[in-house]
Amino acid sequence: MAANEPIGVVGVGWVGLVTAACMAELGHEVFARDIVEEKVRSLSRGEVPIHEPGLPELVEKNAGRLHFTTEMAEVADRAELLFCCVDTPPTYSGDADLSRVEAVVEELGRTDRHALVMKSTVPVGTGRAIQRRREGLGYVSNPEFLKEGTAVHDFMNPDRVVVGANHASARFGERVAALYQPLGAPVVHTDVASAEMIKLASNAFLATKISFINEIANVSEEVGADVDEVARGMGLDGRIGSRFLRAGVGYGGSCFPKDVQALKQLAGNTGYHFQLLTSVIEVNELQKRRTIGKLQKHLGSLVGKEIALLGVAFKPDTDDTREATSLVLSGRLQGEGANVRAYDPVADADGMLGGARVCESALEALDGADAAVVVTEWPEFAELDWEGEIKPRMRVPLVVDGRNFLDRDGLRAAGFTYEGIGR
Ligand code: UGA
Repeated sequence: MAANEPIGVVGVGWVGLVTAACMAELGHEVFARDIVEEKVRSLSRGEVPIHEPGLPELVEKNAGRLHFTTEMAEVADRAELLFCCVDTPPTYSGDADLSRVEAVVEELGRTDRHALVMKSTVPVGTGRAIQRRREGLGYVSNPEFLKEGTAVHDFMNPDRVVVGANHASARFGERVAALYQPLGAPVVHTDVASAEMIKLASNAFLATKISFINEIANVSEEVGADVDEVARGMGLDGRIGSRFLRAGVGYGGSCFPKDVQALKQLAGNTGYHFQLLTSVIEVNELQKRRTIGKLQKHLGSLVGKEIALLGVAFKPDTDDTREATSLVLSGRLQGEGANVRAYDPVADADGMLGGARVCESALEALDGADAAVVVTEWPEFAELDWEGEIKPRMRVPLVVDGRNFLDRDGLRAAGFTYEGIGR
């Protein structure tokens, strides 16, 4: 078995749509369901509602195999493997809100023909609880490791595929693994709880790496080391690895903040205090705010100062602003009395940044500014004519490079005051 296993996808958000398009690309007929009628209508017309490089092309190319609907019955009729891709946002208590997952299980009703293939990130124990309640329903935990901005590439070139299935669902586990077989990646066959933990632990570990290097950056600033050099020297040690060692203004997005919190909470619910993750979260929150001190160092009080935020999305190549550092910075800066102007090449920042002025271009944001703060490393910010075009327009030629990606030496030579992170 490989191609032509009809696939159901339930919840056509970012993960659902990437999964649907990639499964279609692998040759499968895909029946994808979402409850939002407007979304289904526009997807049926071939319009992709999110910014994800390569995705519109894939949807267009595989339009004949991609069927979008609002009807669960239609999906359940055509497919037996149902990828559950609904979102699981954090609740006030820090637990994951599983109401959308529950709704899918309810809607499926009694069946022994189907398996729910869980792509949504859920607390460890969710699979067991669902199986206990819905005897007969197959259950496979198949967490996703996709990064926004490179999701299509990540799907097609996975480091590993994790397939968690308990004894009763072993045959469904085999069928899920077979879907990924053409990708040639190692498949980790394991139990459901371990698969669920692999997902949470992977994100928590990556977030830990980031908070770790951010603390090294902060100490490097004090002792005169350059964190980029330090990360390069550390990363070549195969045991450490060079990826996710980029210091910056903190991690954001819809995954790391939520999943680190969820794992901490999961541990807390069992009575275990996950001390390390508590620090990872705190370091990240402080890191988002450290820019304020850097600005004050050069500008003194920020009251009435014009601060330009370059980048609003939580990282480049996405329009996602969830838990983005820009939101925290904008709020803190305005709290300090500064006037904030912000620009992002893709993300729609209107109404996201409190009283900040949303600009149409980087130039507009920088015109008359007392400082530029690079929050997101969009390539176009490195290509700006800082010396010729921007310096004459800024009130103070001060750049805080929150991602260490501008040309530090070039900017300094051009007369800018440059502050990076840990260098
Ligand atoms: C993350 C994981 O990388 C994926 O493996 C996972 O599947 C996904 O969450 C998820 O759970 O769905 P994503 O949130 O899209 O992916 O983005 P990342 O590229 O991981 O970046 C997250 C944040 O960390 C960004 O704010 C980024 O700027 C920051 N970051 C990343 C750093 O500050 N330094 C780094 O070295 C790397």
